[in-house]
Amino acid sequence: MGCADVIEMDESGARFRIGAERAVELRMAVPFATFVPLLSQVFGDIESCFQPSGPNGVSYDKYTDFHKLMNGLTVTAFEPMVLPCLFTQMPDLEEKLSSGIICLDVGCGLAEPSRNLAKKFPNSQFYAIDFSASSIAQAKELASKDNLNNVHFFAMDAAQLDKEWTNKFDWVTAVDAIHDQAHPRKVLKEIVRVLKPGARFSMIDVKGTSNAYEDKKTLGGGNSAGHYIASLFHCMPVSLYFDGGEGLGTMWGAAVASELLAEAGLLDAKTFDTDHPVMSHYLSHKPVHTSNI
Ligand SMILES: C[S@@+](CC[C@H](N)C(=O)[O-])C[C@H]1O[C@@H](n2cnc3c(N)ncnc32)[C@H](O)[C@@H]1O
Repeated sequence: MGCADVIEMDESGARFRIGAERAVELRMAVPFATFVPLLSQVFGDIESCFQPSGPNGVSYDKYTDFHKLMNGLTVTAFEPMVLPCLFTQMPDLEEKLSSGIICLDVGCGLAEPSRNLAKKFPNSQFYAIDFSASSIAQAKELASKDNLNNVHFFAMDAAQLDKEWTNKFDWVTAVDAIHDQAHPRKVLKEIVRVLKPGARFSMIDVKGTSNAYEDKKTLGGGNSAGHYIASLFHCMPVSLYFDGGEGLGTMWGAAVASELLAEAGLLDAKTFDTDHPVMSHYLSHKPVHTSNI
């Protein structure tokens, strides 16, 4: 760890220090490090995708414990580094959540954000969907340990949300989930359908620029390369595995994201930084008059 600059050491090679200023970085490094064994599991599968008659992608089933490890990343990121920024960027949100609104999280995994918000805002209702039945089962178990009865889980494809949900939600979120979609354009259209007219969509996604050269300058070599590796070993192959999968990848970036949000009919898309070094908040809303959607 000393040689890798994870911790500092002096000339003696026997005295070590972890500075308090490294706390955030180190807290994030731990769950990120768990992705090394996770992604190594599929090395052969990824290699076969590059063969002329190989598959297009890799199924989620091949990544043992993906949802648990992903949740480790979200726990370190959401409450300390993202949520305070959402409240600043949407100044009326905290008050609305306190009075009671109905929210949906798309591609929820173990649903750390919905469970976290459900605890803080008992008057609001939180719906959370994921197409992985196992992640939904684990999320339910975690919610029941906390006796939460205002969070509702559904094993559901984001590209085909419940037909009854048209104009239902006051706020829709998607945390680190849109770039993984096989059919992100369909998913965004579905999100527009289920939002109430004028209601907001908060997409929390990786802070790319849609230009690898700019990514290196903005995020630094190590950070940007790390996210391109995650993209190659997970985000692109899980999307390309499905027929017609777009394979946007982790580093799809702000330019492509803004284009897709606008194409889906979401208005006034703005990209905000969060306190997380590599997560952005893309905020947009459904038109108030929805006759064309
Ligand atoms: C990178 S994980 C993020 C999970 C969670 N939002 C978090 O931050 O911990 C992406 C999630 O999207 C889910 N997902 C991908 N495609 C989906 C689809 N078409 N419908 C529903 N969920 C989907 C995956 O199962 C996975 O749980």
